[in-house]
Amino acid sequence: MKFESKVVHAGDRKKAGNYIPSVTPIYTASSYVYDSLEQLDRVFAQEESGPSYARYDNPTTVAFQNLVAQLEDGAGAVACGSGMAALHLSILGALIDRPKRVVAASMLYGATTSLLMNVFGPMGVETEFADPCDLPAFEEAVMSTKPGAILIETVANPLLRVCAMDKIAEIARRAEAVLIVDNTFATPLLLRPLELGAHIVVHSATKYLAGHGDVLGGVIVADQPNYSVLNGLSRTIGPIMSPFESYLTMRGIKTLALRVERQCANACKVASWLATQPRVERVYFTGDPAHPDAATITRLFPKNLYGAMLAFEIRGAGRPEVFKMMESLRMIVRATSLGDVHTMMLYPAMSSHRDISPKHRERLGIRDSLVRMSIGIEAVDDIIADLEQALAV
Ligand SMILES: Cc1ncc(COP(=O)(O)O)c(C=O)c1O
Repeated sequence: MKFESKVVHAGDRKKAGNYIPSVTPIYTASSYVYDSLEQLDRVFAQEESGPSYARYDNPTTVAFQNLVAQLEDGAGAVACGSGMAALHLSILGALIDRPKRVVAASMLYGATTSLLMNVFGPMGVETEFADPCDLPAFEEAVMSTKPGAILIETVANPLLRVCAMDKIAEIARRAEAVLIVDNTFATPLLLRPLELGAHIVVHSATKYLAGHGDVLGGVIVADQPNYSVLNGLSRTIGPIMSPFESYLTMRGIKTLALRVERQCANACKVASWLATQPRVERVYFTGDPAHPDAATITRLFPKNLYGAMLAFEIRGAGRPEVFKMMESLRMIVRATSLGDVHTMMLYPAMSSHRDISPKHRERLGIRDSLVRMSIGIEAVDDIIADLEQALAV
């Protein structure tokens, strides 16, 4: 080869030797070469397993998908570039050969509500919103709407209500609708929706799965029929997660159990401390025995692992007082997102729920005095000390 050809080809396309790397490496190749075109033909036809093209089956992303499918006990997983892309693909897949109607939880992550209203709505999909914690009302909405899909979150953002997912799965089964569950807040360590009768589970992998604030990603795990549809759609549409993000998220998941156990333990202590503070009017926490869904939480969640998200209202505070408190934080990171190793605080009225009108927010109980926290793995005394000094300002 001449120099100009060597710079392009030399060193590349060597078969992996007779070894197995101890962790999955990052495969950046967008396409793959086989000994014979007959073999490549079988791979394209999915008669023989193996990577063919990065939009279909990048080996790093496939390894990540296999990992999450096992954690959620599903038939297969599809990794996406963001949690929103995963939700978009899930709803599309569920409705593709079903009635174009959705019954969704009234309290959802703001962008998910926007996805239903502003993306699927104009495409002809009707959405009926109902409170999944009010089972008779939710069942009535499902039976009267006859939806193709039902969409709920395991722990609703930001007031942390928990619906009886197993009972909603029963309603979905009777209505012959696909139940999609956003399990981002609970993680598969706390709750595995497919075991409780859901058909499709979605995660924003950006959050607890990756866990370190350096990934944007999503992943869907489904039962066999829904996985086949979603995998086929993903191959055509191409929302697939990049190999680098897949690698980082796999790496993050290795410490998921350790992180979430510590985060849950820290959250219990922070919630108990907040409840004793005169400036704090009300604490929302899934581990609170007085939580409105305590019976469901005790039934569905493992003992002592109630989640690491909490929210609280500052007595008599409006936006200026909340801003002052948050700007006084020294260690706690005041930023959007959740599930990272570091403790975070956000103001729902300004970030996660800013697209909702103030009136509607008030109706949902998301007041201007409410802040939401994602508790991290730091020493809990440092988290409490930071809150104490910020609340005293
Ligand atoms: C419950 C929930 N679902 C989905 C998403 C969207 O995830 P992403 O930002 O990765 O698209 C978020 C983001 O905050 C979320 O909190």
